[in-house]
Amino acid sequence: MNDLNALPPDFTWGVATAAYQIEGAVAEDGRAPSIWDTFSHLPGTIDNNDNGDVACDHYHRVPEDIGLMKRLGVDAYRFSLAWPRVIPGGDGPVNKAGLDFYDRLVDGLLEAGITPFATLYHWDLPQALQDRGGWPVRETAEHFARYASVVAERLGDRVKDWATLNEPLCSSWIGHLEGTMAPGVTDLEAAVRTSYHLHLGHGLAVQAIRAVSPDARIGIVNNLSPIEPASDSEADRAAAVRADGHTNRWWLDPILGRGYPQDMVDLYGVELPIRPGDLETIAAPLDWMGLNYYFRQIVQDDPAGVAPFAKQVDGPNELHTHMGWEVHAEGLEQLLLRLTDEYGVQRIFVTENGSAFPDVVREDGTVDDSERTTYLEDHLAACARAVAKGAPLAGYFAWSLMDNFEWAYGYDKRFGLVHVDYETQVRTIKASGHRYAEIIREASAKRDASA
Ligand code: IFM
Repeated sequence: MNDLNALPPDFTWGVATAAYQIEGAVAEDGRAPSIWDTFSHLPGTIDNNDNGDVACDHYHRVPEDIGLMKRLGVDAYRFSLAWPRVIPGGDGPVNKAGLDFYDRLVDGLLEAGITPFATLYHWDLPQALQDRGGWPVRETAEHFARYASVVAERLGDRVKDWATLNEPLCSSWIGHLEGTMAPGVTDLEAAVRTSYHLHLGHGLAVQAIRAVSPDARIGIVNNLSPIEPASDSEADRAAAVRADGHTNRWWLDPILGRGYPQDMVDLYGVELPIRPGDLETIAAPLDWMGLNYYFRQIVQDDPAGVAPFAKQVDGPNELHTHMGWEVHAEGLEQLLLRLTDEYGVQRIFVTENGSAFPDVVREDGTVDDSERTTYLEDHLAACARAVAKGAPLAGYFAWSLMDNFEWAYGYDKRFGLVHVDYETQVRTIKASGHRYAEIIREASAKRDASA
């Protein structure tokens, strides 16, 4: 693809997953329940009453799954560690068997020539900590920092690239305000306190990782959306400013040293539990920013709704994914340029981007997911356009390596470049996976030629 020429020669090509979505083995080798085990077992919370008990059985299939990554030819694999596998009680004793699992995963990746990118928190808080108040209480941030230290001490000789949190927006707004993700709370004060303690936990974890692994490269992963008003009316334009605060600025400003946006502090009306020094901790210098991009938001004023009183309306593009999300690749370019121009970010990874479509394995054993292939090509082209305009984009991680447990949507929504048959656990590389492998091969050939 000529339109990818702008990507730098050392661009990192990767795939991403998360622990609860793929591992299974939820009660093995000392792992204790997380809030997602609890939530997914409540009747009616998850489509089809699915849960992550088995998922892709990745816990028992690491060599096979690394083999798939090798076939795709990726440079890097972004995975998350399950805190309740490593420290089952959240604080207290470390579970050696849990750490051993990630140790084997990292060694296997390195043997295969694949760089591990480890995420410490992708939503699976140990249930024991939830029982003591969860993210709305400050101690959870402190326990998170200790967990980060334990993991970095064990893996930091081989893992150099770390993300503290994945999508704290989802843990806060969806988990504690909308209540459709674990722990299923619907309380604005709890949601705001959660966001604050996640940020604090992030900052403390950065300090903890650097203390034991000084050459670590650390980032945080946010899911962001470009926001547009549904009309030119003053009310819709004001709603767009609020939605931008809720979706983007709340997650970027404090991390990048600007403090919490005052318009949103006023709107939420919840006192932030800030102690002296916290804002500096939260704004700890980072080596990179992770961007997860799935959709833009077009919003209308919604005075009768919940904060930020902005209702999303459907976008005009015809193609929507199986999640109902409008496909809009230009939004990725816009966000990359905003991080670059408005926030001055020096190094960015697209840490997730992908699409769900209802794939089937055909009789000849192939999966023809042409819509996902086009989605992938269009979003990579958007990355290249942003790079051509100055965005310091260092890599792209496709979501996801394989179909997996899509949270409240269960197993019906398939995001993988690899199809998983959940009855047999047979993996099949989809056409989009073969296309991604081809794109990576072409890019590596160019890299070799220019070396
Ligand atoms: O599956 C999720 C992932 O866990 C976090 N980012 C969005 C993906 C698709 O919804």
